[in-house]
Amino acid sequence: MTFINVAAEPGNECQKSQGWLGKLDVGRSLMAKFILFSAPVILLCNAFFLYLYADFRREAMQDELAVEMAALAVRTSQSLKAPLRSGDAELGRSLLGGLAGHPDVICGEVFDAGGQKLFAWPGLGCGQIQERGTAFERPIKDRRQNIGSLTIEYRQSLLEEKLFADLLYIVAALAFSGMIAVVFTSIVHWFTIGRPLGRLLSALNKTAQAGARGSVKWRSRDQLGIVIKAYNRMSETEARRKAQLRAANDELKVEIAERLQAEKSLKETQAQLIQASKMEALGTLAGGIAHEINTPIQYIGDNLRFLSEGFGDLRDLIGSYETVIAKVEQTDSVAAVLAELEKQKEISDADYLFEEAAVAAQQSLDGVGQVSQIVTAMKEFSHPRAKETGPVALNAIIERATAICRGEWRQAATLELDLEESLSDIQGLESELNQVILNLVVNASHAIADTGRTDGRIDVISRATDNGIRLEVRDNGNGIPDEVQARIFDPFFTTKEVGKGSGQGLAICHDIIFNKHGGKIYSETESGAGTRFIVELPGGAGTGDGNHATTRAA
Ligand SMILES: Nc1ncnc2c1ncn2[C@@H]1O[C@H](COP(=O)(O)OP(=O)(O)O)[C@@H](O)[C@H]1O
Ligand SMILES: [Mg+2]
Repeated sequence: MTFINVAAEPGNECQKSQGWLGKLDVGRSLMAKFILFSAPVILLCNAFFLYLYADFRREAMQDELAVEMAALAVRTSQSLKAPLRSGDAELGRSLLGGLAGHPDVICGEVFDAGGQKLFAWPGLGCGQIQERGTAFERPIKDRRQNIGSLTIEYRQSLLEEKLFADLLYIVAALAFSGMIAVVFTSIVHWFTIGRPLGRLLSALNKTAQAGARGSVKWRSRDQLGIVIKAYNRMSETEARRKAQLRAANDELKVEIAERLQAEKSLKETQAQLIQASKMEALGTLAGGIAHEINTPIQYIGDNLRFLSEGFGDLRDLIGSYETVIAKVEQTDSVAAVLAELEKQKEISDADYLFEEAAVAAQQSLDGVGQVSQIVTAMKEFSHPRAKETGPVALNAIIERATAICRGEWRQAATLELDLEESLSDIQGLESELNQVILNLVVNASHAIADTGRTDGRIDVISRATDNGIRLEVRDNGNGIPDEVQARIFDPFFTTKEVGKGSGQGLAICHDIIFNKHGGKIYSETESGAGTRFIVELPGGAGTGDGNHATTRAA
C-alpha cells in the first residue's frame, strides 16, 4: 500500500513516500490526515455508544435479575406453604436452603403472619451477613389467606462483572472491525486515490522538471478521474501551445536575422548614397571648380611667360654689361661707354622688370596657394571617411566647404564667414558635416542666382550655445514658397530642373544632423527676403566670449 505525499521543497513538489511511518506523516499524507482527524471522532463515537450500551444493558440485566428473583421467590414460597402449615421448621429450613443454588441470592428469611421470623438461610438469616443487597419480599398465601412471608436479599455485583465482560467483548469486536476497516479503506484509498494521484503527480513532476508532455492513463468517472482527464487535456493543449510557441520563436529568429541583415544592407546603402551624392555634388561643382582652378592657372602662366621674357631681356642686359666692361678696359672714353650702357638699360626696361617680377612671383604664389586649397578641399571632400565619430573643428570645415563651392556662389553673391574663434571641437563625422555645409551653401547660391539680383549675399555664421554649436547659412534669395516648405527635407524633392538638383541635398543633411549627430536642422524663410538654414549640434560649446573672426570672400 502506498500513499502519495506532497513534499514542500520547490521543484520537488511531488514525491512518493517510502514506508508506513513516512507515509503517515500528517503534513504529507492524505491517508494519515484522514486517519488522524477521523480516528478521535470514531473513538469518541464508540465510547459514547459503549456508555449508552452499558447503561441500557445494566438496566436490562437488573430487570432480568429482578424477574428471576421474583420467580425464585414464587417458587420457594409455593414450596414453603406445607412446612408453614404443618409448622415443620426443619423442612422449611431445608427448602429455604434451596436458595443457595442461586449465586446472586445473599440470604432468605421466612416470617409467620404475625411477622415473627420462623427460619432463615443461611444460619440465623440476613442479620448474620455483612453484605447488603436488594431485598425482595413475597407474601405466602394459602387459600387466599396470608400465612406468612418470604424475604429474599440478592446482590447485583455479579451483574457488573457480566456487564464488564460483555463490554470487553464488544470493544474487542469494535477494535477488530476498526482494523479491518482501516486496512480496507487503505486498499480502497490506494486503488481509487493513491495510485491515480501518484501517476498524476509524477506526470506533473516530469512536466515541471523537463517540460515534457505528461499523459496519465486512468479511467474512472469519479472526481479524480475528471481531474486527470482535465490534466491530460491541459497537458495536450500546453504541448500544442509550446510547439506553436517554438515555431513562432523560430520564425521570429529568422525574421530578426533577416531584419538585421536588411538593416545592415540599409546602412551600407545609405553610406553608398551619401558617397554617391558627394560625387554627384562634385560632378555638379566640377565646372565651377575647373573655372576656379583655371583662373589662377591662367595668370600664373601669364606671369611665368612674362618672367621668362623678362629674364631674356635681363640676360641681354647682363650681356651688354659684360661687353661694356670689356670695352671700358680697352678704351679711354668711359662717357661713351656709360651712355651706351644707359641706352641698353632703357631698352631692357630693367626697373619695370624688377618691380613687376616681384608682383608676378607673389601673384603666382597666391594662385598656387588657391589651387592647392581647392584641390585639398576636393580631396578631403571626395574621400570616404571613417564611420567612427571624431573631434571636428567646425570652422575649418566651413572654410573648406565654402572653398569647394566657390565657383557656385561667386557668380551669384558675396559670401561672408562670421565664425566664432573660440569654438571647441565637437564629436562628429567630419566628411558628412562638410557635406551639410556644402549643400546649404550651394542651395543658397542657387536661390540667389534664381532672383538674378546683383547684391546677392550669403552669410555663414558659427556660434557657441549653452549646449552646443549653432550654425547658420543665410541668403537673400527669394525664400521658400509655403507649399514647398513642408517637403524640402523629403528625399528626391526638388524644384530645380534636371541636372541642377536631385532633391537629395536636404534629405541627406537631415539624416546626417538628426540621425547621426543627434542635432536639429530647420529653416526660417521670408518670401522675397531670403532663407536661413539653422543647424544645432550638441556638444563642443566654446567659451562664448563674443570674439568673432570675420573672413570676407568676394
Ligand atoms: N536656400 C534656399 N532657398 C530657397 N529654396 C531652397 C533653399 N534650399 C532648399 N530650397 C528648396 O528645397 C528643395 C530641396 O533642396 P535639396 O534637398 O537641396 O534638393 P535640390 O537642391 O537638389 O533641389 C530645393 O529644390 C528648393 O526648392
Ligand atoms: Mg540642394
